[in-house]
Amino acid sequence: MPSSSPHEHPSSNDGAQYTLAVLGFGKLASAIVRGCISTGFLKANEIVVWAQSDARMSQAHALGLKMADMKTCAQSGTALLLSIKPQFFGEIAPQLSVPANTNVISVMAGWTSEQIATRLKVKHVIRAMPNVAAEVQAAVTALSISKDCPATAREFAMKLFASVGRVEPLHESHLDAVTAISGSGIAYLCLFIEALERAAIQLGLPNDVAKKLSLEVLQGVAKSASTGKVDLSALRASVTSPNGTTAAALAVLDAGKFSQLITRAAQAAKDRAAQLGQANT
Ligand SMILES: NC(=O)c1ccc[n+]([C@@H]2O[C@H](COP(=O)([O-])OP(=O)(O)OC[C@H]3O[C@@H](n4cnc5c(N)ncnc54)[C@H](OP(=O)(O)O)[C@@H]3O)[C@@H](O)[C@H]2O)c1
Repeated sequence: MPSSSPHEHPSSNDGAQYTLAVLGFGKLASAIVRGCISTGFLKANEIVVWAQSDARMSQAHALGLKMADMKTCAQSGTALLLSIKPQFFGEIAPQLSVPANTNVISVMAGWTSEQIATRLKVKHVIRAMPNVAAEVQAAVTALSISKDCPATAREFAMKLFASVGRVEPLHESHLDAVTAISGSGIAYLCLFIEALERAAIQLGLPNDVAKKLSLEVLQGVAKSASTGKVDLSALRASVTSPNGTTAAALAVLDAGKFSQLITRAAQAAKDRAAQLGQANT
C-alpha cells in the first residue's frame, strides 16, 4: 500500500520538473505510462500526473507516480501528454499555463495540432493516434510530427509510443482515417468475431467451444499475417477451393456486400472524426 494518501498530491507544488507530465489518467494514459515504465524508457518518479477523479489518482499513486493539481501538472513536464476526453479540452485549456517550449503530445481525437497550439500558446504539438491494444503493448500508433519540431521532442514521442507497440509516422491529414481504421477497427473485428461465435452456437457447438474456436481463428490469422510473409488474399485463396465450403460462405458474404459495408463503416467513422474536429474551430 502507498505510504501517503493520493489526495495529498505529495509533490504538487514543489516546483519540480519531470520528464513527462500527464493530464488525464484514463485507460490510454495509464497503458502508456505502464508501458514506458515496463520497458525502462521512463522511471515512475520521472512522471507527474493529474486526473480528475480520486480513483484514477489512486491508480497513479499505486504505480509510484508523482501527482499534482491540474495547473501545476500542466507546467511541470518537459513533455506534456494530453489524454483527457476531447470534449473537455476546450473548457480546461484556458485554465492552463503551459511553458511555450513544452513538448506537447496529444492523443485526443478531433483536436488538430494547430488548434491545440493556439489554445495552449505553445510552439509545437505532436499528435498521436494509438489504439486500445496499448493495454497489451500491441498498439499501432500513427504519429504526426511537424517538420519544424525539434529532434529531441520527436525522438521522445517516438520512444513514448514505441513503449506500447509499433509507431507509424504519418501526416496529420491522415489521422481521421487512422482513427477509422486502427482506432475503431478494433471494434469492427470484435463485432466480426462475436458474430462468428454466435454462428458457431447456432450451428450447435457448445458455448465455450464456440468462443475458443472463433478467438483462435483471429489469433491464427494475426499470427500468420504478423510474419510479413503471408498475404491475406493469398491466405484466403488457399482455404477457398472452387465449389468448396469456404467458397459457399464467401458467396453469401459477397451477396451481402460485406466488403462495401466495411468501407461504408470506415467512411462513417472518418466523417465523424472530421465532424468532431470541426466543432473545435
Ligand atoms: N482508448 C483508446 O483506445 C484511445 C485511442 C486513441 C485516442 N484516445 C484518446 O485518448 C484520450 C483518453 O481516452 P481514454 O480511453 O483513456 O478515456 P478514459 O479512460 O475515459 O479517460 C479519460 C480521462 O479524461 C478525464 N476526464 C473525464 N471528464 C473530464 C473532465 N470533465 N475534465 C477533465 N478531465 C476529464 C477522465 O478523468 P476521470 O476518469 O478521472 O474522471 C480520464 O482521466 C481521449 O482523448 C481519446 O480520444 C483513446
